[in-house]
Amino acid sequence: MQSPLQVLHITDLHLMADENALMAGRNILDSFTDVLAAARQKVPSPDLVILSGDLSHDEDKADYLVTYTRLAKMLKQLFRKTICIPGNHDDIELVKRIFPLYDIDAQGTFSLDNWQFILVDSSQMGIHEGWLAETELGLLDRALKDKNSDKNSGPGEMHNLVVIHHPVVELNSAWLDRQRVGNADKLFELLARKKNVQGIICGHAHQAYDTRVDEIKIMGTPATCPRQFTPLSSEFSVDESVTPGFRCLDLYPDGNIKTRVCRL
Ligand SMILES: [Fe+2]
Ligand SMILES: [Fe+2]
Repeated sequence: MQSPLQVLHITDLHLMADENALMAGRNILDSFTDVLAAARQKVPSPDLVILSGDLSHDEDKADYLVTYTRLAKMLKQLFRKTICIPGNHDDIELVKRIFPLYDIDAQGTFSLDNWQFILVDSSQMGIHEGWLAETELGLLDRALKDKNSDKNSGPGEMHNLVVIHHPVVELNSAWLDRQRVGNADKLFELLARKKNVQGIICGHAHQAYDTRVDEIKIMGTPATCPRQFTPLSSEFSVDESVTPGFRCLDLYPDGNIKTRVCRL
């Protein structure tokens, strides 16, 4: 079997300009650097690192700038390639401007071997709920060529992994489900027509889950910040029984995905 691409999924950092800032009584930056160290122990040289939003928990432009600049520097020192999307807690414009890590093409895509990564922005500044604007759905439509077309079938076929900040499925958690991508039905209509997306990775839920919609793997990953959310809770609730974490994905040339969640 050919060797897979090794990808790390890191999400919901909620870093702040103040390096001593706490969340759930623990240092947010320390939690992030501990996750990075654990991830590098598992996968010393990942082909790609994907950050799926809520990079910062700041509230004003100056603080966002400090946080993003520090984060970009850290990631550049550690990893050969990082791509990221903003979340509802981010300054969307600053994320896209500051991160040289966001060096994808204008279509929001990035390719490695025969895998294409499509970054879809579900965030709306100042609003917790997720939504896919027509421009984002259009971007996705263009990035996913028809599987049955001559160009995109056979040995050179591309496999696709979509990255979205908000969950695209219900998690049986009423307060979180209200914030999921509100027009996810449009997303799945599109993906059902294209038939060539292998997986979707999401942030925002601060918990691990693995499910499927048709043949598409849907994966949620714990936050790196200290605050994990209690699964299956109807109201906001912090889960004290689990630690921050990350996800490893092995992406095989035949389109298979093997994945596991690791925690501190
Ligand atoms: Fe978050
Ligand atoms: Fe979020």
